[in-house]
Amino acid sequence: MSQEDLPPSVVGALRCSVCGDPVAPAGRSLRCPRRHSFDLAKQGYVNLLHAKVPAGTADTAEMVAARVEFLGAGHYAPMADLVAAQAAGTTGLVVDAGAGTGYYLSRVLDELPEATGLALDVSALALRRAAKAHPRLGAAVWNLWAPWPVATGSASLVLNVFAPRNGAEFHRVLESGGRLIVVSPQPGHLRELAAVVDLLDVDDRKEQRLDAALSAYFEPEDRFEQQQTVTLSPGDARRAVLMGPNAHHPARLTRLAELTEPLAVTTAFLVSVYRRKDVTTPTGPGNPRR
Ligand SMILES: C[S@@+](CC[C@H](N)C(=O)[O-])C[C@H]1O[C@@H](n2cnc3c(N)ncnc32)[C@H](O)[C@@H]1O
Ligand SMILES: [Zn+2]
Repeated sequence: MSQEDLPPSVVGALRCSVCGDPVAPAGRSLRCPRRHSFDLAKQGYVNLLHAKVPAGTADTAEMVAARVEFLGAGHYAPMADLVAAQAAGTTGLVVDAGAGTGYYLSRVLDELPEATGLALDVSALALRRAAKAHPRLGAAVWNLWAPWPVATGSASLVLNVFAPRNGAEFHRVLESGGRLIVVSPQPGHLRELAAVVDLLDVDDRKEQRLDAALSAYFEPEDRFEQQQTVTLSPGDARRAVLMGPNAHHPARLTRLAELTEPLAVTTAFLVSVYRRKDVTTPTGPGNPRR
């Protein structure tokens, strides 16, 4: 296994998803002392899953391609810059929970010369891209709702951008004093597009729900609302829809073909920064990680 696939510090933080023991490289696999073995894909990510993920959870190839192209056009770069600025000064391991194609994690790693990154996502298709997105980034397929195959206290920072939030695991994998940065859409995000296409609504009480869900484990530290107008070509407008959860609802997509002119669209993000509380993470039979 080459360092480019999985940096040694990322391997050091990974745990066997069957028994919780540390893993080490063995040829093109990671293996624990009990000989549970996980193949490294030729595209450079490791698959630690040993259970099937419910259909419809992972991004499809079409969603991944749409996201790569849309994000590559830079429409969300100001938000990525804001996240990177908040991450400044971090050394050690940055875990991106639901990293997708690695766009935000690689932007953050650019800002942090002494950090390495672990991209966790259930979509192997997305992680093919993430694994190549940055030399200090390693990628592992995992279901965020299950206990993570990541050592307790191994991370300095957890990122969570438009992805499932497992507060207990964010807390467990973070070191004492570690930070969590959560990005979520605000009401009004893509509203001009929502007027054309029947998009899923953004919950306008999301902020309160976010704090409530995390309050047992995290102290809110900072919060930034970022609103901008971006002009999207018809192709980018289509990709903005196809890269998100609306892609799982084909009935919502039929009117996309009506977009033929550039569209000025509002982007509205909430970037929330939290500090880990020093409370004991509940552990139990379902959480064997060490
Ligand atoms: C809207 S995308 C955001 C991806 C990335 N953070 C970004 O903004 O480009 C949501 C991501 O969460 C992943 N995801 C959804 N459910 C998941 C789960 N249960 N476990 C791990 N990843 C999951 C999807 O595969 C997808 O990559
Ligand atoms: Zn094992």
